[in-house]
Formats: sequence, structure tokens, C-alpha cells
Amino acid sequence: MERVETYMQVPLNELLFALSRALDFVEQDLLGVTSNHGKRAAYVSAHLCRAMGVSNADAFDMACCAVLHDNALTSYMLKAGPGDIRRLEHFQSHCTIGEQNALAFPFTGDVTGIILHHHENWDGTGFHNLTGEDIPLRAAILRLADNMDLVLKMGNGRDSLVREMLEHTRALSGRLYSPRVAQALATVATPEFADKLRDDHIDQALREEIPSMRVDLSTADLLRVCDIFAYIIDAKSVFTRNHSRGVAALIDRLSRICKIEKEKRNRLIIAACLHDVGKLSTPLAILEKPGPLDDAEFEVMRNHVSVSEDILNNVRGLEQIAAWCASHHEKLNGRGYSHRLSGADLSFESRLLACCDIYQALTEDRPYRSGMNHLQAMDIINGMVANGELDPEIAGVLAGHGEAANLNHLSGNSG
Ligand SMILES: [Fe+2]
Ligand SMILES: [Fe+2]
Ligand SMILES: [Fe+2]
Ligand SMILES: [Fe+2]
Repeated sequence: MERVETYMQVPLNELLFALSRALDFVEQDLLGVTSNHGKRAAYVSAHLCRAMGVSNADAFDMACCAVLHDNALTSYMLKAGPGDIRRLEHFQSHCTIGEQNALAFPFTGDVTGIILHHHENWDGTGFHNLTGEDIPLRAAILRLADNMDLVLKMGNGRDSLVREMLEHTRALSGRLYSPRVAQALATVATPEFADKLRDDHIDQALREEIPSMRVDLSTADLLRVCDIFAYIIDAKSVFTRNHSRGVAALIDRLSRICKIEKEKRNRLIIAACLHDVGKLSTPLAILEKPGPLDDAEFEVMRNHVSVSEDILNNVRGLEQIAAWCASHHEKLNGRGYSHRLSGADLSFESRLLACCDIYQALTEDRPYRSGMNHLQAMDIINGMVANGELDPEIAGVLAGHGEAANLNHLSGNSG
């Protein structure tokens, strides 16, 4: 009989910072800048919450929503192509998709409407025409924090910033912004506050502002967050648009066949969802290069494993998952990367993830070849087994059951 759902102790703030770092990579690559827009919106929002007497837990949730409010960026870019983040702001869908995605985050309370309504104007001319006090307070706070950062580009650290913030909020109070929120901004807009918004200060400022929250998350909670993150990771490139979720579906299926108990199976699915989170740091030009990579490009590509490891190692509670992810490109004969581990160091779970990753990648289109069918993919996998790279038993399971992994079968905690 399978064990009852267990819980993992994960500090929410560490998870939040890890995910925000991943989102920064997307900005950096797709927009050419690390604008720190999400972090600054989070800092300003959380600070305003405190000034307005919002509880610590609600301020924490507010900061999470603000960090995640533009999470629809990769999926938007996948459809519309690269551009300025401000373009995204003109589309109502970034509020609906953003809210839908972010609701998977294990918030401490109810955050419904914060992201959905962060483009409501006080005078009713926003995306959903809510007016005045009908706009949820924290959505009104995010409205100001989000828009003010885009208009004033607050990361530059200039002396005039306090005056500009005051003029900006005064001019738009009662039209775009809640007068109460604009008033609160006037009370916190000091030179020290402006200094914390600088690109080189915002990380530290946000860490100090956000209360540390360590909570027990069910594996099901984490599965939900990671499934959404897999979607964000995959959406970076058309070629990988199903990759992490495909690996997750495949590992779920093979784990069942291998009779791996539910809790570990779910952790493997989480690992599959996050194993390539470091690819958010790999430039799109390399991910989509229509030919073989040169040595330098290959080195950059390989680095995604270290970035995945680094991001996940910064979240206590995810150590085991981080270790599996860190070894997904290792080979049994020691010729893989990034730690050049060999068979004796590679657990069954690491080997399973590596096999599923390769199989899934082979069946996907790449810029220089079409996706392979099951037999073609197994030919390559069997060749790798013969070279001493992959586990023969796992390859045997793949041979019998790897075909047609069904994305809808990402059932996680369904038993
Ligand atoms: Fe927005
Ligand atoms: Fe935004
Ligand atoms: Fe990878
Ligand atoms: Fe992968």
C-alpha cells in the first residue's frame, strides 16, 4: 500500500528567491536586461503593505505575487517573439495567465485577484473596469509598484528619484492609483528607500524586507508550483516547449512500472520539472542554433546544469531533488558532466532521470533535426548503453514502455 502524503519543510522565502532568480534569467536573455522589475515591484509592494498596516503574512504573500506577477513572459514571448517587457503590460492576458500560474504558489493566505487586478485603474478604466474600493487593496498596491517602476525605471539610483516618485504618484492619484496607496507612498519615499531600489541593492533590500517563512509544504503543493515552473522553463524555446513536462510524464510512468512508492515518485516528477531550470540562463541563440555548437557554446550550454544545481541548492528541503537534477547529464562511465560522476556515485533515481531526459530530448524536434520515433530513439539509447553511458535495466524499461508519453498523464498525486 502506498504511503500517505508527506510534507517537506521548505522555507517559502528561499523558494521565492530561487524562482525569482530563474525569472531574472528570462528577462536577461529575452529582453537583454536584468531589470529587476519583479523584485522591485515586490519590495515596494511589501514596504507599502507595512506602511498601511497589512499583516506580515499578507505582506509576504503580496511580495510573492509581485515577484511572480510577470511570470507569463516566456509563454507570451513564445507566441509574440522578443520585445520590451512594457509590451506585455498592454495585454490583459498577462493578468489572467499570470494569476492562474501564480495561484499554484503555496501562499500563506488567499491571494485571489492580486495579479488578476493589478491593471485596474482607480477611475474604472483598467482591464476589468473595477473602480475605487472594489479593487482589492493589494492589487491597488501592485498597480502602483508595477507601473511606477516601468515609468520611472527606478533601478538607476539617481538623486532625483524621490521627487520623481512623489510627482508621479501625486499626478496619477485618483486616476490610476488608489489615493490611499499614493498617500502611503508619500510617507515612505525617502532617499534611503530610493537607494534600496537600485539594481545593485534590491536583492539585499528584498531579503531584509520579506519576513522569513518556514512552512510545511505537501509534496502536492510543490508539484503544483513545479508543474507551472516547468511550463515557464519549457516556454522559453519552441524546441523545448514540452521538454520538462514530457520528462515528468515519462518519469511518472516509468516509476510506476518500477514500483517506486508514491512519495518518491512525486519527488522524481518534481525533479523532472525543475532539472533544466538552469536553461533559463542559456541564451536563446544557443538553444535554437540551427547547427552544431562550437566548444565555447557547448560550454555555455553545459553550464545550465550548474545553474539548476545552484538555484535548487538554495532552497532547504529540496536537497535530494537538487542532487538528482545536478546529475542529469552524468554518464555511468564518468564521461558526463558537470561533476564527472560515475556509476558508483549515481543513484537509481539519477540514472532514471538521465534516461528519461535523453529519451524525451531525442523525441523532440531540434533546430538541426526532427524528433525521432520510439525505435530511432531506442537505437541511440541502446548505443549509449553499449558505450557504458546509461543503465541497461532502465533502458530495458524504456524500450517496453517509453513510447508516446502522454503529457496529460502528469498525474502527480493521483495515486
Ligand atoms: Fe502588469
Ligand atoms: Fe510588471
Ligand atoms: Fe539538461
Ligand atoms: Fe533536459
